[in-house]
Amino acid sequence: MSVSAIIVAAGSGTRLGHPEPKAFVELGAHPMLYYSLRTVRDVTAVTEVIVTLPPGKEAGANLTVQRAGLRIPVKLIAGGAERQDSVRIALSMVNADCSVVVVHDAARPFAAAEVFDACIEAAARRGGAIAAIPVADTLKESAQGTVIATRPRQGLFAAQTPQAFRRELLIAAHAAGSGQPVAATDDAFLVERLGAQVEIVAGSSLNFKITTPEDLRMARALIAADRPLSCRFE
Ligand code: C5P
Repeated sequence: MSVSAIIVAAGSGTRLGHPEPKAFVELGAHPMLYYSLRTVRDVTAVTEVIVTLPPGKEAGANLTVQRAGLRIPVKLIAGGAERQDSVRIALSMVNADCSVVVVHDAARPFAAAEVFDACIEAAARRGGAIAAIPVADTLKESAQGTVIATRPRQGLFAAQTPQAFRRELLIAAHAAGSGQPVAATDDAFLVERLGAQVEIVAGSSLNFKITTPEDLRMARALIAADRPLSCRFE
């Protein structure tokens, strides 16, 4: 099976309040993007990587790719206005002989290679698969800062990436989803709208998306704590 990995890294990261685009903010000794590239390096089914970039970041991304030591082709391309646009553009660049595409947010530096493997395997079998974790907190609905209802959390999951799909299915989902008034924040939503099945693979709370300055502090602390133990994040 031939698998293409798309790493979306073209976001500006406005909510992070950092002058660098989010995927290029340093976590430990490397920019955020590096950690996803290192993980994908360990996913044996992946035969090529496509990375979407914000404007002006080609040189920085090139250096990061070299440091990550991938032994497969890596295409660096300009992303689009929204995440959905970035994935659609990247999809137009995947090798025609690839059967499964796995999409991952550069903003999730701590995804495990095993979760990629599980998503790819499930996508080949079922059509689509996503990493997700059960919602742990009690869910409240509010209006004007006041609780108006408590919602049952049973059966609810928080979707993460990686998300993997048969190539033709993902292309059809993005074609159907382009031009819709509200952009999709994940790929599975577009696939679900086609009525295709999406399997849930166990994600991890470590695989959080770096969005706020607090998330960034947490990620840096994790890397600093891990270094003397296993160098996993080196
Ligand atoms: O903004 P958010 O963190 O939700 O974006 C998720 C991922 O999508 C990030 O890794 C970001 O770099 C990427 N993205 C992109 N193109 C955009 C917007 C976001 O590749 N236009």
